[in-house]
Amino acid sequence: MLAATVALIFVVLTACGGTDDEVPASGPGRLEVLCTVEESWCRVMVAAFEAETGIATSYERLGSGDALAALRASKGSPKYSVWWGGPADGYVAAKAEGLLERYVSANATSVPAASKDAEGAWTGVYVGALSFCSNRAELARLGLAAPGSWQELLSPALTGRISIAHPSSSGTAYTALWTVMTLNRFDEAATFAYLGALNANVGEYTRSGAAPAGIAGRGDAAVAVVFAHDCAMAIDGGAKDLVISFPREGTGYETGATALLAGAPNPEAGKKWVDWVLGAEAQELGAGAKAFQIPMNPDAKAPALSVKLGSLALVDYDFTKAGQQRQALTSRFEREVAPPPR
Ligand code: G6P
Repeated sequence: MLAATVALIFVVLTACGGTDDEVPASGPGRLEVLCTVEESWCRVMVAAFEAETGIATSYERLGSGDALAALRASKGSPKYSVWWGGPADGYVAAKAEGLLERYVSANATSVPAASKDAEGAWTGVYVGALSFCSNRAELARLGLAAPGSWQELLSPALTGRISIAHPSSSGTAYTALWTVMTLNRFDEAATFAYLGALNANVGEYTRSGAAPAGIAGRGDAAVAVVFAHDCAMAIDGGAKDLVISFPREGTGYETGATALLAGAPNPEAGKKWVDWVLGAEAQELGAGAKAFQIPMNPDAKAPALSVKLGSLALVDYDFTKAGQQRQALTSRFEREVAPPPR
């Protein structure tokens, strides 16, 4: 019993993020993962990978934009060997900047062509749909129903009562930005007119994409724009006043991805990670970490609380185009709408 407890503590400690001082990032048998999903899921995955392979594995959690910035800053010699999680558009941007190493895993065959890079620079591991995540009590106080369209987010009753991440730091928020671009048929002026109007209703831009669900859960915002699985995670975690709704014009979605990094300190361990996270067994670990994304592997069972994509109006989300325009659009957002949060 004691031995089991000690072993468990060891696994948890070695799996913790931000442990650069304790766990060397490189060298044989060691792997550092740049992790862009929620911390709880990062922890479960690195612990399971380490238990499975014996490779000492640690992680650092950074949102998509922050992850890109970190990779840019250490171009060619990153401390991480792989990047895991976060929408594919960030990976498209990273590939264009030479930050990814091509690797076609034998386990990628079941991943649809649209959900992986044709040259193997990145591969999809999960899917999620963007939603509105509202606090029922706050809505009632404001005399509003759960929003059913992007236009309803502009209601004057919601002034200062919307929470969303900033698209420079967050892939979730960039998914929202590109969804609005798509709905406006790529008319940038119309898109920025909408984002400017929405800005009047945003009380707070967060750095991380999922954080607004917690803010709405506490009643500090009426509506959060987050992936549905992040709202479901907050509800499952006790924020029972939250309700999920979707815009009828169409909502955006993400293919969460993974990639081997250019100049990876441990490419062999990195390849093992990519192979492993594409497997059904690894993809079923999300549910235990309350991560309700839809697994990409068709043999992996989707968690009961996953969104049912077939029931939603989805926009035609082009990850390649979205990734190519990421830098320009987020810079314009910073200039014309709001500076990134600190
Ligand atoms: C959360 C979501 C993931 C998403 C990620 C992006 O972790 O659960 O599905 O890929 O956010 O993070 P970011 O902070 O960049 O929006």
